Amino acid sequence: MIDNYGRNIDYLRISLTDRCNLRCIYCMPEQGVSKKCHEDVIRFEEVLKIIKSAVPLGIKKIRYTGGEPLILKNISSLISETSKIQQIKDIAITTNGILLYDLADELKEAGLKRVNISLDTLKEDKFSYITRGGDLNKVLKAIEKCISLGIKVKVNTVLIKGINDDEIKNFIDLTREIPVEIRFIELMPIGEGEKLYKSGFMSSEDVLNEFPELIPLESSKSSTASMYKLIDSKGKVGFISPLSCKFCSNCNRIRLTSMGTIKPCLHSAKEINIREYVDNEVLLTSVLKDIIYNKPSQHHLECDNKSHSLKMMYQIGG
Ligand code: 5AD
Ligand code: SF4
Repeated sequence: MIDNYGRNIDYLRISLTDRCNLRCIYCMPEQGVSKKCHEDVIRFEEVLKIIKSAVPLGIKKIRYTGGEPLILKNISSLISETSKIQQIKDIAITTNGILLYDLADELKEAGLKRVNISLDTLKEDKFSYITRGGDLNKVLKAIEKCISLGIKVKVNTVLIKGINDDEIKNFIDLTREIPVEIRFIELMPIGEGEKLYKSGFMSSEDVLNEFPELIPLESSKSSTASMYKLIDSKGKVGFISPLSCKFCSNCNRIRLTSMGTIKPCLHSAKEINIREYVDNEVLLTSVLKDIIYNKPSQHHLECDNKSHSLKMMYQIGG
């Protein structure tokens, strides 16, 4: 449906858990996060009811995120149930890729068409440093497998000066031979990212200036990334610039957290608990309608250098 600012909101992003099997330095505290009570976390049945109530409002696209969505048992059956909802035309997940190699076949079978894999370095030691212990090879194998199964792969790379800015060329070069979309994301001052932000932030524009060989492509209106490619490459390169070139005026999404709240804007403190309405489809649709209509116009990250979100990235899923 169209919100108060004329934007067509057709995309629901769902964080299924705030737990993760990694501890990336810009996202999770080293000691991890306190475990939520089982009953506090939204159940898959509730998720499906929420999607079904959002469909009459024009939601067509679902993304499951986390934390890490693949640590959840039955994730494939959730995807399979979601694919049965006729109006949902697109189902994707955002994952760190650690468990993806083993799950790729059943996810494909369940109807998964696209994955976004978070990968900030192509070096084994650095991967282990950034993720505090992760194994790079598992992710690389998963990427290869998804491509061979025909699952479309986008790689999300958060750029941090002094940490992975020496690898930008290597990432871009990957697109020469492999049909992946590498998307460089500006580091956002949220959660653990706030500590690294001052020394680590790099704007997309500064990076682009260093790579004149990247040819600009048309990107779709609701796309958060500006797209480029190398001549004759199989893949593409995208830049997601929430700070330097914010896309709020084209924003098409709302978010559901694993606590059962809707966040109409990633960086706003506004959160509405909808869990109490899950058993009443008509009421839930009307509550969602009100939330979508009143979605905030924009974030103010670039002015405040700080997100107003009450939730961290591992609770929202990007
Ligand atoms: N800035 C930018 N991206 C972030 N992510 C997590 N924290 C931050 C941050 N501070 C990204 C992850 C992943 C997605 C879920 O969110 O790298 O790609
Ligand atoms: Fe987990 Fe993703 Fe956060 Fe890394 S960035 S700790 S993989 S949720």
